[in-house]
Amino acid sequence: MCGIIGYIGERNCIPILISGLKRLEYRGYDSAGIGVLSDAESVIVKKPGKVSSLEEKVELLNLSSNVGIGHTRWATHGLPNEINAHPHSNQNGTISLIHNGIIENYQTLKKGLQKLGYNFISETDSEVLPHLIDNFISRGHSLLKSVRLALSEVEGTYGIAVIYSGEPDKIVVARKGSPLIIGIGSDENFVASDVSAILAHTKQVVYLEDNEIAEVFRDHFNAKTISDDEIEKEVHEISMSLEEIDKGGYPHFMLKEIMEQPESVRNSMRGRILLEEGNVKLGGLAEVADRLAKSKRIIISACGTSWHAGLVGEYMIEQYAKIPTEVEYASEFRYRNPIINPDDSVFFISQSGETADTLAALKEAKNNGALALGICNVVGSSIARESIAGVYTHAGPEIGVASTKAFTSQLVVLALITLLISRKRGMSLEEGKKIAEELNSIPEKINLILSKNDEIKNIAEKYCNVKNFLYLGRGYNFPVALEGALKLKEISYIHAEGYPAAEMKHGPIALIDDNMPVVFIAPKDSIYDKVISNIEEVRARGGNIIAIVTEKDENMNRLVDHSIKIPDTIPMLMPILASIPLQLLAYHIAVKKGLNVDQPRNLAKSVTVE
Ligand code: AGP
Ligand code: GLU
Repeated sequence: MCGIIGYIGERNCIPILISGLKRLEYRGYDSAGIGVLSDAESVIVKKPGKVSSLEEKVELLNLSSNVGIGHTRWATHGLPNEINAHPHSNQNGTISLIHNGIIENYQTLKKGLQKLGYNFISETDSEVLPHLIDNFISRGHSLLKSVRLALSEVEGTYGIAVIYSGEPDKIVVARKGSPLIIGIGSDENFVASDVSAILAHTKQVVYLEDNEIAEVFRDHFNAKTISDDEIEKEVHEISMSLEEIDKGGYPHFMLKEIMEQPESVRNSMRGRILLEEGNVKLGGLAEVADRLAKSKRIIISACGTSWHAGLVGEYMIEQYAKIPTEVEYASEFRYRNPIINPDDSVFFISQSGETADTLAALKEAKNNGALALGICNVVGSSIARESIAGVYTHAGPEIGVASTKAFTSQLVVLALITLLISRKRGMSLEEGKKIAEELNSIPEKINLILSKNDEIKNIAEKYCNVKNFLYLGRGYNFPVALEGALKLKEISYIHAEGYPAAEMKHGPIALIDDNMPVVFIAPKDSIYDKVISNIEEVRARGGNIIAIVTEKDENMNRLVDHSIKIPDTIPMLMPILASIPLQLLAYHIAVKKGLNVDQPRNLAKSVTVE
């Protein structure tokens, strides 16, 4: 998920690796490291924190080398400390390997390797790779073949770069699910996870596709498939500016992150869904799952968008696991001496894992003897460390201040947790399978919604000058209304309110006139007819209506000004889909107003003060 850079040529690679890592910093990371071959000896230098601290450490060593690799890590397995930072290596230190992605079957591979006598020193999934490769090298295979054979045993995603002191004239790279490119220079070549790392040196690049592997030498490269078929690779000329490249070609991180959701949501589920068993595997909750399923009450505490995710979680858990669930703002929870019993379980949801109120609420719950559990995106963050157990969302780094992909990943994780608890509390295999299958189909459905970007942009442009917006939804989609309104106010500075649709007539209806657009989240579900009545009420008062509806709902067109169609799914997962057009709507309104979408005024990405 994070950054890779590599160099082979005549020059000293150290400054190239460090400046490449600096170019990758914008992606967010928690630690960094380099591995080089100096006089055919392998040297690894790593450091938690910033690339500049790694640079200071490297400078002291006075290293020089013509081949090396560098990595910025965004931890998924194991704390962001020095040992877990990449490169990882085999026991005698001849191999250095950097990895982006997640090795899903690392526990099985690790057990097998341990039986063969391999010692592991890190907590990462990635460390299985150098040992696995070592195992093939020790049987007499070349580096390339060993990497190929090792990868054929791996399930999950990877972009890797490997160097080996036994074959110091090459870097071997491979890709599945995590980007990897080769940069072609004159008498020197580069490898990288994205162009920005190497653009200062070359504009000629070769994109590896999934299941491809390449040996990169100083003056040429050979590419193959993992299953050893020869392939021809085309060299592309980069025409984008550096600034465009940082954001993956998108004008803002927020749009990039919205567009990444098919992948980020898939990453949240990766290796966790057991389709045949209609169940899930959540390693982080394994030790506490029985206690969790026996909870008398579940409390979910968080702030902002994460709190909205918690509200959806409440609906999910109460519907399926039938455990009374309450959701509370962390800032309220921490100060009001809440009643917490030892048989309560409390979830704390936080993208950053550093939100001061959520962290304080977590400590309060722990002091009261509750099972305090974290749902965080940032591995090794304070909330993740303080929690008794938990689940990472694995959405990847989120740079835009307005949370988008982290939110949909929180919803996915809450659905996984619901499935885990409910199956322990009597949910049938059949029902479990249905939910698991629906979860699996979500990334494809998100793709369909994202293809409507232009349609949503056209709608947004009509409304960028209004002063107020109302968002209405019922049931599972009431929290979506709250989240849609929050997104809009955060980045467009338009006043927006979210309400349960039926509450409209208890007050907000007084605001409705032809200057007040109302966004309805109105999928065809059991309360569809009730939402239609609310829509009629708004229409009768001249309000402009934008409705998020499910495909095949032809009825809605005659009632509303604009309808955005999204694919159908089971109600518990609808918020994942329904929130995406609202993210795009807010985004395009803010862009049309010429505002700083990624860093809206007065807001911070992680609120570490009260
Ligand atoms: C989301 O768009 C906001 N920037 C904000 O509400 C955020 O969700 C809140 O501050 C909580 O952050 P956390 O998830 O990192 O704890
Ligand atoms: N899964 C690996 C780890 O946690 C790689 C993380 C990354 O992509 O940066 O170390």
